[in-house]
Amino acid sequence: MKRIKAIYPGSFDPPTNGHLDLIERGSKIFDELVVAILRNPEKDPLFSVADRRKMLEAMTAGFDNVSVDTFEGLTVDYALRVEAKAILRGIRAISDYEYELQMALMNRKLQPGLETVFMMPAEKYSYLSSRLVREVAQLGGSIERLVPELVEVKLHEKMDVAHKFANGEQLPGKTPSEGKSKSRKKKAQST
Ligand code: PNS
Repeated sequence: MKRIKAIYPGSFDPPTNGHLDLIERGSKIFDELVVAILRNPEKDPLFSVADRRKMLEAMTAGFDNVSVDTFEGLTVDYALRVEAKAILRGIRAISDYEYELQMALMNRKLQPGLETVFMMPAEKYSYLSSRLVREVAQLGGSIERLVPELVEVKLHEKMDVAHKFANGEQLPGKTPSEGKSKSRKKKAQST
C-alpha cells in the first residue's frame, strides 16, 4: 500500500499552539509527518536548534506518525532525501498567502514532483506567530494558552536570563563582567 510522507518545515522559534494544531491536522491526513526544523546559520534565533527539537519532540510525543528532524539547505532537497511527497504549510490569513504561494511555486519549479499542501489552523490561532510570542514574552506579557506549557516555562527561563544579563547580575559560571557584556545585552533585547 502506498504511504504518503510529508514534511512540515519551519523555524519554530519557539513552537506554538498554532504549530501543534497544524501538526495534529497533518498527522490525520498523512501516513507520516516529519516536523523539520531549519538550521539557518544566518539567523540569530532565540532558541537553539537542539532546544527547539526537544520542545517539538515533547509536544509531538503523543502522535505515532509524527517525528522531528532538522535540516540545512533547500527544503525540496531535504524532502527528496527523506522521500517525502508533500510539504505541509499553514496559512493563517490572506496576509500569509502571497509569501506562501511564492514559496510553493518556487519549490514546485525546483522539484515539480513535490506538492505543497496548505492547511488552516483553528481560528483561535489565526493571529498567533512565533515572532509575536517572542515579543510579548520579552515585554512581560502573558503567553498562556498560546504555547504549550513546556514552551512557556522555557521562554520564562530565557527571559529571566536575559533580564539578569541586562541588569549585570552574576549568572552561574559567569563573572559579573561577563553578565554585563554589551553584545549579549543587545542580543537579549533584540531577539
Ligand atoms: O517558519 P518559517 O520561518 O516561516 O519557515 C520558512 C521555511 C523554513 C519553510 C523556508 O524559509 C525554507 O524553506 N527555507 C529553506 C531554504 C529554502 O528552501 N529556500 C527556498 C524556499 S522557496
